[in-house]
Amino acid sequence: MEEKLRELIEGLNKDMNAELNTIIRYIRHAAVLKGIPGHEVRELLQKEVMDEVKHAMYLADKIVALGGTPKVELETPAEVFDWREVLQDALKFELEAIAGYRERAQQAEAVGDIGLRSTLEAFAEDETRHKEEIERLLG
Ligand SMILES: [Fe+2]
Ligand SMILES: [Fe+2]
Repeated sequence: MEEKLRELIEGLNKDMNAELNTIIRYIRHAAVLKGIPGHEVRELLQKEVMDEVKHAMYLADKIVALGGTPKVELETPAEVFDWREVLQDALKFELEAIAGYRERAQQAEAVGDIGLRSTLEAFAEDETRHKEEIERLLG
């Protein structure tokens, strides 16, 4: 397999695991939040997690389509109960995801996969919207 393609698949696998771990964290964090601000954060996470599921599923399929194998590496979420800490954690992920998809879109372009580049750019757009919604709740 060509080196550039191998690096792209490796990167997509990293992105897929970041999404899978975020799905687990968002479900866990949304479940424990209480009170009125907690409720707002819970609603946001439950809405955004559906986008992350779509991203993870697409990435897993694409890794296989490119000749790779998805390698799942899960992490146990931190025992956080404070809505501000939950939002800070989510903001960190969304920022990393935007940077990751920007880099991956360039790698997709480099191997000539224009469809993948465009999908990854759309993912960066989703994560940017998530980031902005999180920043709004953080105030
Ligand atoms: Fe995502
Ligand atoms: Fe997101």
